[in-house]
Amino acid sequence: MIPGKQGAAVMSLTVAIFGALILQPVSSETEPGILASDSTILPVEGDSLTLQCNLTNAHSAPKENYWMKNGEEIQGTRSTNNNTEYRLHRPRGDDAGVYMCVYTFQMAPSVNATIEVKSAPEITGHKRSENKNEGQLAVMYCKSVGYPHPIWTWRKFDNGNFREIDNSTGRFFIISKDNYTELHIMNLDISLDPGEYHCNATNTIGSRDEKSVLRVRSLLAPLWPLLGVLAEIIILVIIIVVYEKRKKPEDLQDDDDPAGPVKTNSTNNHKDKNLRQRNTN
Ligand SMILES: *[C@@H]1O[C@H](CO)[C@@H](O)[C@H](O)[C@H]1NC(C)=O
Ligand SMILES: *[C@@H]1O[C@H](CO)[C@@H](O)[C@H](O)[C@H]1NC(C)=O
Ligand SMILES: *[C@@H]1O[C@H](CO)[C@@H](O)[C@H](O)[C@H]1NC(C)=O
Ligand SMILES: *[C@@H]1O[C@H](CO)[C@@H](O)[C@H](O)[C@H]1NC(C)=O
Ligand SMILES: *[C@@H]1O[C@H](CO)[C@@H](O)[C@H](O)[C@H]1NC(C)=O
Ligand SMILES: *[C@@H]1O[C@H](CO)[C@@H](O)[C@H](O)[C@H]1NC(C)=O
Repeated sequence: MIPGKQGAAVMSLTVAIFGALILQPVSSETEPGILASDSTILPVEGDSLTLQCNLTNAHSAPKENYWMKNGEEIQGTRSTNNNTEYRLHRPRGDDAGVYMCVYTFQMAPSVNATIEVKSAPEITGHKRSENKNEGQLAVMYCKSVGYPHPIWTWRKFDNGNFREIDNSTGRFFIISKDNYTELHIMNLDISLDPGEYHCNATNTIGSRDEKSVLRVRSLLAPLWPLLGVLAEIIILVIIIVVYEKRKKPEDLQDDDDPAGPVKTNSTNNHKDKNLRQRNTN
């Protein structure tokens, strides 16, 4: 680049010497450049990874420089040096991403350089199990760190092998976005759907897999407690009815019997009592 630019400068100088043209301002030919570290793949040997940017060819000292990760400024990295470093201590999957150093100038547009830090995907969150009733909607998800963002797939583990999800019923939906994926199963079928579902994240560096267990309950399941109570009530009613039926024949006999004597007896007793009481008085 520099020899080319020098060559261009010599050419324009030659043109100027022959006095045919007015020169372009020379400053536009010495644009600042950045010497940046190469892209890296995690994990790295040693304790840390240092990303470097060296400003070259600058017409003036930078006003400021700073680092960005995935399009956002990393706080606390602003300085006015020509050479800058950003150190990742024991870098892990979530340190992977697109890093950028940016130099700003008082009187010129800013310049930047990109350093990619790649790593295999790591699944950092997923639903271990989903329990739903038949006919309901099941939602399972996985999320990852790592860069580049993975290609997501979902498979079902059946009889010892993985099968691509069989969507002949049209009830399966997969929504994937960068580091996140969701599997929706609509209108759950108790005979087809229960089982182990695996999300698989694959990028250029590697691949990971996690499982979610889907259980589907019968629609009657939530009714069992209610049915239990109902059964208790029915048994109680039966017991009462049986008891009443066994009791009834005696009651009927009592009613049909001329109950007079008993009652008169009792009234007689009362009368006797009264008489006795009066007598004592
Ligand atoms: C930046 O400059 C430093 C010191 O001159 C040097 O050690 C380092 O290798 C340079 N880095 C790059 C990426 O050129
Ligand atoms: C940074 O670069 C500018 C332009 O090349 C130069 O004038 C300045 O002295 C440099 N600063 C340091 C600290 O090297
Ligand atoms: C980095 O440089 C490119 C090319 O000059 C520019 O389009 C982009 O906006 C710059 N990004 C930042 C964050 O400064
Ligand atoms: C996932 O990516 C989005 C944007 O691409 C980002 O905001 C979010 O922090 C990432 N989450 C994880 C766990 O890396
Ligand atoms: C399953 O089929 C439905 C309906 O045809 C479709 O909209 C959906 O995208 C399919 N899902 C998958 C994972 O292929
Ligand atoms: C993920 O799927 C890819 C492509 O089918 C396969 O090669 C890879 O082994 C799977 N990864 C895991 C961890 O099972």
